[in-house]
Amino acid sequence: MKRKKILLLSIIISIFIISGCEKKDILTGDSINDKISDNKSVVIYFSATGTTEEIAKRIANQSNSDIIEIIPKQKYTSSDLNYNSDCRANKEQNDDKSRPEIENKIDISKYDNVYLGYPIWWGTYPKIILTLLDTYDFSGKNIIPFCTSGSTDISKSVTDLRNYNQDLNIKDGKRFSVNDSDDVINKFIEDNTNEEIKTMKVIINGKEYIAKLENNETVKDFAKLIPTELQMNELNGNEKYVYLDTKLATDPYNPQKINKGDIMLYGDNCLVIFYKSFDTSYRYTKIGHIDNLSDLGDKNIIVKFDK
Ligand SMILES: Cc1cc2nc3c(=O)[nH]c(=O)nc-3n(C[C@H](O)[C@H](O)[C@H](O)COP(=O)(O)O)c2cc1C
Repeated sequence: MKRKKILLLSIIISIFIISGCEKKDILTGDSINDKISDNKSVVIYFSATGTTEEIAKRIANQSNSDIIEIIPKQKYTSSDLNYNSDCRANKEQNDDKSRPEIENKIDISKYDNVYLGYPIWWGTYPKIILTLLDTYDFSGKNIIPFCTSGSTDISKSVTDLRNYNQDLNIKDGKRFSVNDSDDVINKFIEDNTNEEIKTMKVIINGKEYIAKLENNETVKDFAKLIPTELQMNELNGNEKYVYLDTKLATDPYNPQKINKGDIMLYGDNCLVIFYKSFDTSYRYTKIGHIDNLSDLGDKNIIVKFDK
């Protein structure tokens, strides 16, 4: 009996030691470290009765964003929200100085895109949204508002946000209803994150060029990889190439002529910079063009691509 107990105890201790070393998720077996998100987008939302929360979760899910709830220190009861009376919510909305306290700490430092969600209260955002803007530094971030409401549109709340802090980059945003389809949510995400990138820095052996870019899916895919530094190998006295680890979208055609400075994709992952002009029978997808490219010589080169 005693030996059984000792055996059981040593098994338990070993499990603790092993799990202590590897830090595995008990349910999935994934390494805990794998779960630390490197997302650049976050959904931050306030929801008093759960409607905005539902939309917030769907946006986070479909955009692969992190999600953070703004939790009020003093929760809103149903009588706090009874807008036909002299309720707490009405008092706050009528008081310019009202800044309802937020209970949780909200770390926004690592995010570029912030989907900011709230219900409409008396035509605009609830005052707790100003507590958020007063507490954390949103400058330089792409703020994408969304709301739910009985019927009121989001536009006044967005104007009010922009007037409150003119330094912030606040998109037009969108009002959602709970019946909106996944397609509506997807379009909202796409409209607000896929901005056309028109140029890119190309630094070749330390010399900086500006490449003008095509407006196509290949460029959008490539833009996700930058900044990146690549060794590009010499070929045929007219091009430098590298096989990327990632496949990019393609739409190949035969350009008939390659122009000096063309940046092309051959196949779905071979990135090429041409430094001589010549006729070609090959098919490429065009990424962009560098106007004033020098002769790149006969050696392999190091190229940095940056925003
Ligand atoms: C105090 C208060 C004021 C409101 N004002 C408006 C309004 O001006 N226009 C509107 O369409 N809905 C208004 N509503 C309804 C809410 O915007 C709507 O129910 C919303 O979806 C609730 O979101 P939530 O469940 O995330 O809190 C108001 C609700 C409350 C509690």
